[in-house]
Amino acid sequence: MDHAGAPVGAPSRPQTRNPVRAADLPNTVDLAWRERAGRVLPGGMYGHIKAPNYPEGFPQFYSRSSGSRVWDVDGNEAIDLMCSWGPMILGYNNPIIDDAYRSELANRGLAYGPSPKSVELAEKFVDLVEHADWAMFGKNGGDATTVATTIARAATGRSKVLKARRSYHGSTPWYTPGPAGITAEDRANIIEFTYNDLVSLEEAVALAGEDLAAIIITPHRHETENDQIAVDLAFARTIRKICDEKSAVLILDDVRSGFRVSVKGSWEPLGISPDLSCYSKCIANGYPLSAVAGIESLADAASSIYATGSFWYGSAEMAASIACLDAMVEMDATSVMKARGEQLMNGLREQAASHGFSVVVSGPPAMPFMRFTDGKPLDYAYIWSAEALRRGALFHPFHNWFLSTAHTSDDIDRALDASDGAFGYLSLRVG
Ligand SMILES: Cc1ncc(COP(=O)(O)O)c(C=O)c1O
Repeated sequence: MDHAGAPVGAPSRPQTRNPVRAADLPNTVDLAWRERAGRVLPGGMYGHIKAPNYPEGFPQFYSRSSGSRVWDVDGNEAIDLMCSWGPMILGYNNPIIDDAYRSELANRGLAYGPSPKSVELAEKFVDLVEHADWAMFGKNGGDATTVATTIARAATGRSKVLKARRSYHGSTPWYTPGPAGITAEDRANIIEFTYNDLVSLEEAVALAGEDLAAIIITPHRHETENDQIAVDLAFARTIRKICDEKSAVLILDDVRSGFRVSVKGSWEPLGISPDLSCYSKCIANGYPLSAVAGIESLADAASSIYATGSFWYGSAEMAASIACLDAMVEMDATSVMKARGEQLMNGLREQAASHGFSVVVSGPPAMPFMRFTDGKPLDYAYIWSAEALRRGALFHPFHNWFLSTAHTSDDIDRALDASDGAFGYLSLRVG
């Protein structure tokens, strides 16, 4: 499953073929916490960050982060190419964002009555995001995708939502790729198509018939274990055209890419304007916040639905978000991350070739990914990422990575030193 721990349809975890690292780095504190966790947390951990899904030696528990680095509970330091799965974009403990958060907190405490910050933040979204006439806020990306779908249904009075197969939009029952505990009814109104495949899109549209409420789509294809693929322009234009012709709602799920790839919306460079877009992850540099931004004609539907949460109105997170968006614009964060990402991607391609491995390095440079294409790709990725971590760089074996503006060119060189060592080790193991 995308974002979640185990890749869909993946072979069972190949980590046992890599018995090396656990003995190499201190992990006694991590093991002690895992033992305690096993008694009180389901399965010792839940969700997508369960250590058993990762290469042996990946820690379960972390104790510290700063700038571009994280430290596990045993004190092992790594350059973090996961950025907390995307939220960190300007560096851990960024003083500007943390000050904005703290000063709002000092004024308002944890009062959850709406504050003017929600107006200021909505104004910021309307200013920055090309298609946005209004914005509303929640906590997680799944809140945003659920709210967007609900608005689309309220606006159209229809029920069917089309989504791409293997595209991840959150862990709510109607989107989650994990079948446990989900009923057929939960997903009865979801129809799937294949990303970038016009024929399958048209089949899905035909299946929805007169009941098509919305098409939800990520800006590019970024499913786990696979190369990231740009959206085909004709495909994106067809989605827009279908939504126009059928008076259905086009929802761009920009939870993962939003503001990392473009501050105006990830399809703005293509000239395609969604009706609703969903944001979360990096919009407040790690403080919990998500957003749905929409066009004027959907404002009534947005105000008609009952969507809320105890923690949705926290103004300190909104203050952090305002500071985060301002800082990103001021420093042209997308260009900084693009440059660092290209440095990383080019370095990985050269290293793979020089060690005799065939890989595909794909994705927007601010969120790159590398896939082995020979031998046993997933096994190789597990061994390679475990070895890179042992040498101080945290790369995920089957999910795209994230860059931040805190990654300096020197950090990328160090991460590349780690990956070079990992390629060297891998070629000894499998060569
Ligand atoms: C494209 C996309 N949409 C939605 C979500 C769900 O976000 P969250 O995990 O914050 O609920 C994710 C999470 O990875 C995502 O990548």
